[in-house]
Order: sequence, then structure tokens, then C-alpha cells
Amino acid sequence: MKTTARAHSNIALVKYWGKRDVHLNLPAVGSISITLDRLFTETTVEFEDGLEKDLLLLNGQEASVKETSRIGTFMDLVRQETAVNSFARIESHNNFPTSAGLASSASAFAALSLAATHAAGLNLPPLRLSELARKGSGSAARSIYGGFVEMAKGERADGSDSAAYQLVEKDYWDIRVLILITSEEEKKTGSTDGMTLSRQTSPYYDAWVRSSPADLDEMRHAVINKDFELLGDLSEFSCLKMHALALAGRPGIIYWNSTTLELMNRIRSLREDGLPVYFTIDAGPQVKALCLPEGMDAVKQALADIPGVIRIIETGLGDGARLTGDIEG
Ligand code: DP6
Repeated sequence: MKTTARAHSNIALVKYWGKRDVHLNLPAVGSISITLDRLFTETTVEFEDGLEKDLLLLNGQEASVKETSRIGTFMDLVRQETAVNSFARIESHNNFPTSAGLASSASAFAALSLAATHAAGLNLPPLRLSELARKGSGSAARSIYGGFVEMAKGERADGSDSAAYQLVEKDYWDIRVLILITSEEEKKTGSTDGMTLSRQTSPYYDAWVRSSPADLDEMRHAVINKDFELLGDLSEFSCLKMHALALAGRPGIIYWNSTTLELMNRIRSLREDGLPVYFTIDAGPQVKALCLPEGMDAVKQALADIPGVIRIIETGLGDGARLTGDIEG
């Protein structure tokens, strides 16, 4: 069976940073995210007898050795769970420029988990799909679901309780995000390496892990009560705490550029002027402005002219991973 699946990207409001098991890719902390409508990956998988390895086309081009090997390792996990032994032809498209440095591993591994298991004849429930996607990339576990999503760090050594679940659907609360692109260069330190460095060298690491459950409790409360001030305040707190942790490593990682910093200051001054807007930033220089629908245009206008802002992508909340096409082979 040739199967196509689509999954959207997500942005964490309470961040995941650090692993309790590197081999099984188990997070040291839980996280809470929103799934983004505007950014998605669509992936087609077809197992084919006679192939000598998994073949990967990314946005129409043959993927690099590094990308192909990461996908191959993941596909081995899919083969272990199924009766399928053959390698696969995989084609993946992002509907956003990958060069923009926007996270694509979340949508990519979520779409691949669904397409590959389905193509192999498996119909996994969302929790199991999420567990599988996590093995590809921690944040991908959350992209299985739409709306507001929580990833549980889990307690078990085998990771069987380390998966995400939906907190509330996207229609529960209309939150908007402006993604402010400030650089199109590839970042120097990826999340996986950054996390290892923080765990091994940052003196703040234990405090980060210890203080995480309280952030998750409060964020859950903010979402259920639709308390935007609390949601925004906590998002900035978790973001800055994560960056402080990475900055305090040895060598410290600086993911920001001067425009990132300027945007953080401007967002705070817009807030002082009465606009409901908060920021969050992942392991890169792009800033995500969290808005309410009624405030979005004013925020966009105020930030668009800041020197260094290359482009702005507007998005609302999106759906979870789903199949978009099957062809009997
Ligand atoms: C800063 O999910 O990319 O975006 O599990 O090593 O693939 P791996 O890491 P990844 O890390 C995401 C880090 C983050 C915060 C978040 O999305 O929670």
C-alpha cells in the first residue's frame, strides 16, 4: 500500500529541553504545545521489494546522507513492529521553506509515523503513534494531535508511558501566532546536541528539571480557563528559562540574533501599551508572537517594519496528523 499522511508543526509553550534517556529519546521534562495550522509536512511511503535501503526525497530532492540515515534508523523501528521487511520509498514535502530554519522535525516525524505504519498495514491508536513519533524527534510526539497538546515525560524506563495526548481541541480557544523570520541560515547547534550540552555542562540543568512540573500545572490551568495573560506570561517564562539553561552551558549556546532581541523588547513594550501579545522562541532566532485574534493585525503592523524581520507567517491552531491518500499496491 502506498500511503500519504499530513502532520502540522507545533510550538511549545512549556518547553521540552533535555533527555532522561538519549537512546530511547525520552524527555527529562514534560511539555505543552499548540499545533499550527499553516505549517505542515506531507509524506508518502511505499514499501518495495528489491530496494537496498530506504530512499528519501525531501521537497523533490534526494536527501543528504545524514537525513537518510536518521530516517533509516526510524524506519527500522517501524519494521521491528510489523511483518514488513522491505525498504521503503519515502517522499516528503514541507509547505514552508525549510531554509527558514523553522522546526520541521516535529511535522516530519509525525507524518512519517502515520504514513509508514499505515503503509505497513498497522492501524495504531494515537497514543502509540505518538510514542513512535517521539523516537524520531521528541517534539513530533505532540504533532500527532491538533489544538493544545501535552507531552508526558513518563516514568517507565522503556518509555512506554512517554507520549503525548490532547488537552483540548483547537476550537476550544482561538489563539493566533505570528512567526517572525529573522534569519534563513541553518542554525549551528541543533536541538539534540544542544540538549546534551546543557545536561552535561549547564549548572542550571537540575533546577530546570525540578521546576518543570509546576509550569505544566499552571499552563494546563491557563488553557482550561482561557487565561491569556497567564498563558503568555508562562510561555515567556519557560522560553527564557530554557535559553538561560542553554546560555549557561560550556560553551554557552546563543540561539538569538540582534533582531530576536529587538523583537522581544518590542513585544514587551506593545504589551505595556495595552496589546495582548507575548513571545516564545525555540532553538533558533525566529520569534513567535502569541496573540488573540482581535489583536493580531495591530501586532503585525507594529512588528513588520523592524529592521531584520525578513517575513511574517500568520497562523491559527491546526489539526492532528491524518491520512490524505491511499493507493492499493
Ligand atoms: C526548543 O524535538 O527537535 O523546540 O527530540 O532531539 O529531536 P529531539 O529534539 P526536538 O526539540 C525541540 C526543542 C524545542 C522545544 C520544544 O519543542 O518543546
